[in-house]
Amino acid sequence: MDNRKPLDQQSHWNTLYTRLPGREHNAGSPSAFAQAFGAWLGVPPQDGRLLELGCGAGEDSYYFDNLGMQPVGLDFSRRALVKAQQTIDGRVWLVQQHLAQGLPFVDGAFSAAFAHLSLHYFDDEVSHFLFGEIHRVLRLKGVFALRVKSVENELFGRGVKIGLDCYQYRGHMRRFFRPEFLDDLIRQRPWHKVTGWKEAQSPGYLTAVLQKVE
Ligand SMILES: C[S@@+](CC[C@H](N)C(=O)[O-])C[C@H]1O[C@@H](n2cnc3c(N)ncnc32)[C@H](O)[C@@H]1O
Repeated sequence: MDNRKPLDQQSHWNTLYTRLPGREHNAGSPSAFAQAFGAWLGVPPQDGRLLELGCGAGEDSYYFDNLGMQPVGLDFSRRALVKAQQTIDGRVWLVQQHLAQGLPFVDGAFSAAFAHLSLHYFDDEVSHFLFGEIHRVLRLKGVFALRVKSVENELFGRGVKIGLDCYQYRGHMRRFFRPEFLDDLIRQRPWHKVTGWKEAQSPGYLTAVLQKVE
């Protein structure tokens, strides 16, 4: 049920993950985006520490672990992390953290960051802050892959408008990305856009791979 007051999204996600019966959020397998990023990375670098932002039930972190990287899965949903713990069988370090509060890691801690459908929940200010945080925790030449819902997504405009390009639909708040907004976030820090695309088969998504160049 939608109402004008935005719901507490942490409780919302806890409820969603409580309802999910085990490793089914990603149908028990890594996302196609994680597999594409894994293939792009090729042989993982020696220092293969990867931060997964909004890891959910952990399928993508599990996949990166199998590739020989050392993932850290971060999510604010305790219920998601309980599921992730089952998925990854204790092999991945999991951290409970609200992304809007920043990343609890030292500068340059990771060689890669990965966010699959976990960054389209924030207003301009928090998004800028978060992109700065991701830049900070990556080492020089570290790479950051993200995939977000765009304003061309079928869900855009459904439910109650709660901010610029933000809608709450069936309890779920989303901030839909415009390409200009993504470009604006990228311009705020020394990122090199390695690649970025609107998916041909699912145009409701924007994807980018960035590299920290300074
Ligand atoms: C659409 S799910 C994607 C999960 C996973 N990346 C995947 O592809 O299966 C979004 C995830 O982001 C997490 N999330 C949403 N807002 C968050 C926030 N403010 N801080 C941390 N995690 C958040 C949710 O708990 C959820 O696990």
